Amino acid sequence: MLFIKTNSTMRAPSLLAVLIVLVLFSLQPDAAAASRVHHHRFGREKLTTLHFYLHDTLSGKDPTAVLVAHGANATSRPGDPTPFGSVYATDDVLTEGPERASRVVGSAQGLYVSSGKDGRLSLVMGMDFEFSDYNGSSFVVFSRNPVTVEHRELAVVGGRGKFRMARGFAVLRTHYLDTGNGDAIIEYNVTLLHY
Ligand SMILES: *[C@@H]1O[C@H](CO)[C@@H](O)[C@H](O)[C@H]1NC(C)=O
Ligand SMILES: *[C@@H]1O[C@H](CO)[C@@H](O)[C@H](O)[C@H]1NC(C)=O
Ligand SMILES: *[C@@H]1O[C@H](CO)[C@@H](O)[C@H](O)[C@H]1NC(C)=O
Repeated sequence: MLFIKTNSTMRAPSLLAVLIVLVLFSLQPDAAAASRVHHHRFGREKLTTLHFYLHDTLSGKDPTAVLVAHGANATSRPGDPTPFGSVYATDDVLTEGPERASRVVGSAQGLYVSSGKDGRLSLVMGMDFEFSDYNGSSFVVFSRNPVTVEHRELAVVGGRGKFRMARGFAVLRTHYLDTGNGDAIIEYNVTLLHY
C-alpha cells in the first residue's frame, strides 16, 4: 500500500477490495464445513388431500377428550364445557363418514386449550392426526381454531412417515355440536405438501 499512489477517489474501491478478500478468506473454513454436512435426498414433493370426520366426545363413560387442567375461573360459567383456560387431552376418533359407525381411518391425539377470552369459543390445537390407511403416517396441526366460524382454516406444520416434512392446511366445518356437553363431529378437508 505504501508504494501505491492513492487519491481519495481510489482509496474507497481498493479498501473495498481488501475487505472482500478478507471476508472471502474468513469464509473459507465455513465453506469447508458446509461441504461436510450430510445432505438428505428427498424425492419429488407430493400433494395429498384427505377428507374425514373427527369425533370429539366429552360426555359419557368413554370420552375421547378429557379436561386435564383449567384456569382459576373455569367453573364460573355453568353450562360451558370449555371456558377460557380449559386444557383437554384428546384421542379423538377419525372416520370416513359423519356417523360414528362409519369406517375408522385414524385418531387425533394431542391437546387443545380454550383460548378465547371474549366469550366466542376459540381453541388452540396441538394435535397429531394418524392414519391407518397410510401405515400410521400422520400430519401435525398447531393452530388456532375459531370454532364459531363456519369454514375455518388450521395450519398443518409437520408430519411423519409418508407425510414427512408436511405443511399445508385443513378446512373445518362443524357437522354436529352439542353446546351443552361439548360433543362435536367436525368435517375436515386437508391439503398437504410432503415428500
Ligand atoms: C376471576 O373472576 C373474578 C370475578 O369476576 C375476577 O376478579 C378475577 O380477576 C378472575 N380471575 C382470573 C384469574 O381470571
Ligand atoms: C404399508 O406397508 C405395507 C407393508 O410394508 C406396504 O405393502 C404398503 O404398500 C404400505 N402402504 C402405504 C400406503 O404406504
Ligand atoms: C370438503 O370437500 C368436499 C369436496 O370438494 C366438499 O363437498 C365439502 O363441502 C368440503 N368440506 C369442507 C369442510 O371444506
